[in-house]
Amino acid sequence: MTCAIDMNHVFFRYAEFRMEDINLQLHVGEQKALVGLNGSGKTTLFKLLLGLLKPDSGDIFVFDRKVTNDNLWEMRQNVGFLFQNPEDQLFAPTVWEDVAFGPRNLGLSEEEVAERVEWALDRVDMSKYINRPVNQMSHGQTKRVALAGLIAMRPNILILDEPFTGLDFKMVTTMIDIIQKLRQDGISIIFTTHNRFFIENWSDSVVVINNGRIVYDGPTKEAMNQKEVIANIGDWNQLKNQISSYQQA
Ligand SMILES: Nc1ncnc2c1ncn2[C@@H]1O[C@H](COP(=O)(O)OP(=O)(O)OP(=O)(O)O)[C@@H](O)[C@H]1O
Ligand SMILES: [Mg+2]
Repeated sequence: MTCAIDMNHVFFRYAEFRMEDINLQLHVGEQKALVGLNGSGKTTLFKLLLGLLKPDSGDIFVFDRKVTNDNLWEMRQNVGFLFQNPEDQLFAPTVWEDVAFGPRNLGLSEEEVAERVEWALDRVDMSKYINRPVNQMSHGQTKRVALAGLIAMRPNILILDEPFTGLDFKMVTTMIDIIQKLRQDGISIIFTTHNRFFIENWSDSVVVINNGRIVYDGPTKEAMNQKEVIANIGDWNQLKNQISSYQQA
């Protein structure tokens, strides 16, 4: 089966942290949750996928093509990455310019660029902020604009680092709607979350990372009662018991 993403025996180390023998496949059209405790290596894994960090060894394939320095830019046009801190990914003077940056780089006509920007900003409900400087927005607004910049590129793969964190309820439903529509177009998605609800309802499969190693990879239906999974995402019952112990105290 063709993989959208295939990480093959990837090793990487920071001074005090190692990613060891990462093997991960995201199939075409699949929606995969990458979960793990704080500091387990999720964002690092995404940065390796994007070529923002270089593996010490191992290979990464995108649609069966090995990612190398020579095709890195081409690959990135096909892969949208929503940063955990989207403040780090906006840099143009205004919202409009920021969303237009990617489509312009694709060499589209100004008319097509304008069409995509309008469509993308409308999707995330940010059309009335087109002239707003990107550093004068709230966190949730920044995330919406960053997402608009991604979908304006019409990527085939989306990598979303904590897409639901910091969004209001209405925007969570908008985000789910956007993801669902993109998925119907056949886009492959890998996202991180610490929230069981999103894992249970929005992923086909779950990959669990603990201290730089993958400790579980399997269908979501089977994952939620596996001990490697529970140990790394927590358990509703644990939370319920804790709440009731406070209520009784
Ligand atoms: N630039 C860096 N230099 C050195 N170590 C780093 C760097 N960035 C991250 N680390 C370390 O790598 C480990 C993994 O970090 P990473 O950001 O990938 O975790 P994460 O799973 O995304 O956590 P979170 O759930 O908090 O987002 C952590 O121990 C962190 O301290
Ligand atoms: Mg992270």
